[in-house]
Amino acid sequence: KRPPASILFIFGGSGDLNYRKLTPALYNLFLDEWMPEHFAIVGIGRTEYSNENYRSHLQEGITKFSRRKAEANGHYKEFFDHVNYLQLDAGDVKSYQRIAEYVQTKEKEWGTHPNVIFYLAVAPQLVPSIAQELGTLNLCKDKSTTRIVIEKPFGHDLASAHELNDLLSGLFAEEQIFRIDHYLGKETVQNILALRFANALFEPVWNRHYIDHIQITAAESVGLEGRGGYYEHSGALRDMVQNHILQLMCMVAMEAPVSFDANEIRNKKVDVLNAIRPIKKEDVHESAVRGQYGAGWMKGKQVTGYREEKGVDPVSNTETYAAVKFYVDNWRWQGVPFYVRTGKLMHQKSTHITIQFKDAPTFAFPSEAAESWRSNRLTISIQPEMDIRIRFQAKRPGQTMTLDPVNMTFNYEGSDDHTPEAYETLLLDVMEGDATLFMRADQVEAAWKVIMPILETWENRTPQDFPNYVPDSWGPEDADALIARDGHSWINLPPA
Ligand code: BG6
Repeated sequence: KRPPASILFIFGGSGDLNYRKLTPALYNLFLDEWMPEHFAIVGIGRTEYSNENYRSHLQEGITKFSRRKAEANGHYKEFFDHVNYLQLDAGDVKSYQRIAEYVQTKEKEWGTHPNVIFYLAVAPQLVPSIAQELGTLNLCKDKSTTRIVIEKPFGHDLASAHELNDLLSGLFAEEQIFRIDHYLGKETVQNILALRFANALFEPVWNRHYIDHIQITAAESVGLEGRGGYYEHSGALRDMVQNHILQLMCMVAMEAPVSFDANEIRNKKVDVLNAIRPIKKEDVHESAVRGQYGAGWMKGKQVTGYREEKGVDPVSNTETYAAVKFYVDNWRWQGVPFYVRTGKLMHQKSTHITIQFKDAPTFAFPSEAAESWRSNRLTISIQPEMDIRIRFQAKRPGQTMTLDPVNMTFNYEGSDDHTPEAYETLLLDVMEGDATLFMRADQVEAAWKVIMPILETWENRTPQDFPNYVPDSWGPEDADALIARDGHSWINLPPA
């Protein structure tokens, strides 16, 4: 069922996120007949564009970044008939009136009261003032149809996130606020809930009695991609761990929800965040490792070191790699370490979660059987591979009882073109008013709380060894030591 009539105002309409992600996502929703019968998309920005120029600019974005390739080209005109540009100075109070007028016109034209969605794809420092202006617009008083979408980063630390939440909650009801974490829209991430709670097979062993440890890797082979100005003030912990990685951890560790109600799911996730053992500042060096890449080579191409990137301080202490060991202190997870890591310019792009099971209780097989024996492992690959692998022992065919580890793999084979992108799912959810895959205020703050001791310790202690890893590697040696101290090693995913 298509969502109700909607107008999407995209602040930052001339920006990169809209060009690469939002418009291609909306276009795919349009082709898949998920857009409402009546809809309008209005890009808002300061850059000067005629509607025509704006549309052809975005069309270029679709050709470059849409998951669909050539066959989709025929429908540009139909789609872009719904797209307009509004040149507006977000700092000028009067200009918001034009938004209200636009909504009135559409309301008359369509004969129905539409959803009005404000998507803030702008620099974080602009969010408070835009939200403030929108909050005072008469249209935002309608809690059931007006929504505001906030991109990450949501705050810079716990205090600023709290301040932003305070500001927003003074202007909007929580159900009107959609805080994006695009990982939650990924197909394979949503599948974690299906795997865990739609099967009777896994949940009984999904706990400290059977699981030895869990690893979450979000390795990127790209570097800064021109975002030095932003990244320099962020770093890997803020950019990836506070949001995406902790959200993945919540999906893996949460208790079974009673329903798929947005608040029910989010309550269960907040429970995980609140159960994460606070890392004491004096223990940060044992639980967390940071890294920064130097100059080197990446797949045969020379790459500059982080400190030489545009927008980066030549003596920068910002980390481009982070690894952390967490514990979740509750009945299910007591004593099970969660090792997480993320980094730029890693050897391979790979986001995956590995559940490492304990050894089988006794080993009754003859000793030669044990030669290549390995304990069970379940791996959920989020991207670029999208699969689930289970490793178990099988008998090697022949007259002797020899065991070999084998993999059973499920993958979304060949579905690349058909699998919705994260932003498609999330934009559709916003139009439908479903906040399940969005971050609630307390969730964001709970996640900041988890990483604050690490952030503060790192900020106050100058790293002695930066840069400490080369491009095309798996990060600094200290990260290997972090996990090796417990008798484990990082699991890099071999191709399926
Ligand atoms: C963003 C980060 O939130 O996620 C980027 O700001 C990062 O630095 C990106 O590259 C990774 O997203 P994905 O979907 O490519 O894994």
